Amino acid sequence: MQHLVDVNCLSRDDIFKIMADARAFKKQMPPKLLDNKLLITLFFEPSTRTRSSFEVAAKRLGASVVHLDPTRSSTKKGESLEDTFANLCAMAPDGVILRHSQNDTARVLADMELTPIINAGTGNLAHPTQALLDLFTILEHFDGNIEAKRLTIVGDIANSRVASSGIRLFTKMGLNVSLVAPKPFMPETELKNFEDLDNVLDNTDILMSLRAQLERHAKPIFDDYSEYAKHYCVTKDRVEGRDFIVMHPGPVMRNIDISDEVLASSKSLVLEQVKNGVFVRMAVLKHLLLDNG
Ligand code: CP
Repeated sequence: MQHLVDVNCLSRDDIFKIMADARAFKKQMPPKLLDNKLLITLFFEPSTRTRSSFEVAAKRLGASVVHLDPTRSSTKKGESLEDTFANLCAMAPDGVILRHSQNDTARVLADMELTPIINAGTGNLAHPTQALLDLFTILEHFDGNIEAKRLTIVGDIANSRVASSGIRLFTKMGLNVSLVAPKPFMPETELKNFEDLDNVLDNTDILMSLRAQLERHAKPIFDDYSEYAKHYCVTKDRVEGRDFIVMHPGPVMRNIDISDEVLASSKSLVLEQVKNGVFVRMAVLKHLLLDNG
């Protein structure tokens, strides 16, 4: 049984195969490859993009999807996560797509070996399908030539599962990753890291902005995010005359992470990332449920 707990569950061959399948699906919708499959989505944290993207991906491939809303489930009556999961698995789904606030939840449920676990974001540790769709978007933009391309990640990197999975995947695939953040948002890292965004913009091919993960801050880190934005917002002034593309996993804090003007410009691939997410998740579902099922 293969799970997708994090990007390190995938070999380079797996990653290239997922990218190739996603590219083929974007060119032409495939037949209903997962016609007789049933997936359950179990999201203990809010989501706009990931949950709907997985549902669209599954349905495009002909699978059925059942959503369990934990706020209206028996976890509210004290049932443990493991018992909730075991009860869902007794209904014989072909996989469970999980989002949870704790870092180890996907691993714990995967180790029960009841059904494939597909991690849709856990804690500040892992968001493998976001990393894969970001990689796909970068590969597509640079026509596959990404070796040594300079990716700068700016924002609340320390609390971001997108950054955590992304850094593991991007460095494995040959990107040259640098981090930019104020000290409270900078993780322990061996990567090149900077506090001043303006000093790295001339050495950047891809600028990936991340929001402040306010829900994961034990207490407020900055009182005034408009002050933070003066230093870290991707504005027209910072973009003009430069050649990099701008990415963000969403949700975007407008005019704090990226300005309205830049979001509306051709530099921004933010909605292309969302579009690509469906094809990449279709490829991930095929990989887990069909190729390795
Ligand atoms: N990028 C991302 O994980 O967005 P959602 O929280 O809306 O799923």
